[in-house]
Amino acid sequence: MTEQIELLARLIVRSQTIIVFTGAGVSTESGIPDFRSPGGIWSKYDPEDFTIQRFVSSTEARRSFWKMSAESTLLAGAEPNPAHYAIAELHGLGKLDCVITQNIDDLHQKSGVPDNMVLELHGNMRRVVCLDCRNRFPLPDMLSEVSEETRVPDCPGCRGILKPDAVLFGEQLPIVTLREATRRAQQCDLFIVIGSTLMVYPAAYMPTYAASAGARLAIVNLTDTPLDHEAEVVIRGRAGEIMPGVMNCVRRLRSSGPD
Ligand code: APR
Ligand code: ZN
Repeated sequence: MTEQIELLARLIVRSQTIIVFTGAGVSTESGIPDFRSPGGIWSKYDPEDFTIQRFVSSTEARRSFWKMSAESTLLAGAEPNPAHYAIAELHGLGKLDCVITQNIDDLHQKSGVPDNMVLELHGNMRRVVCLDCRNRFPLPDMLSEVSEETRVPDCPGCRGILKPDAVLFGEQLPIVTLREATRRAQQCDLFIVIGSTLMVYPAAYMPTYAASAGARLAIVNLTDTPLDHEAEVVIRGRAGEIMPGVMNCVRRLRSSGPD
């Protein structure tokens, strides 16, 4: 693995417009479960309850969502882990073009990546939106309304249905963000995937857009992904350990001058 860490560090030193693409795996060391690992969210909740159709048509599905949100208040209390800070250090070096994330946990922003450099393809759980009057409210404010038997809060303004400002299955991704992420992916020189199964589209097209436009591809993930065969570097392991190791190596290479 040391060899692969050194190789990724060399690619980082040689690159200027790096995109880091993250999935839930970058946040598991912050205490937020991912979706498809054993014990992940889809082993406890039915993804069918998180389709927009079901969410709008069934109070039960909305109860399930609020129960999950109330339980995963980890989300609210979660702090960035060393992987997030390593990514933020790329920004500090002036090498990060942007982070394209599938995550809705706000941890890239909390670790110091400016909000306008975090392209959130699946929205953000910081807030909920009313499907009727389109007003937005901070999620924690609404969670305080969720009582033990998981009452389903509705819009304080018009009593309409409140939905997380995260993209549910079957829902259109934020089109402006999706277009910008696609454009950026095709212009970067290094595309680093961290903590994703790369199974959910259209987000999972991003690494392919980048590689097809000539970018080098690196993947840091605990388990195999369908794009491993296309990557120049594949590092199997925990992002919270690997990424600080990569940045230590970047610092060493930069201080020892051009190779
Ligand atoms: N370090 C590196 N990789 C990790 C770590 C870690 N500490 N923890 C987990 N992983 C890996 C897992 O092995 C898995 O391959 O991260 C990946 C997480 O994959 P998923 O759970 O499928 O999450 P993600 O790829 O983000 O899912 C995409 O699916 O359900 C939807 O909207 C949801 O945004 C999500 C989308
Ligand atoms: Zn409303």
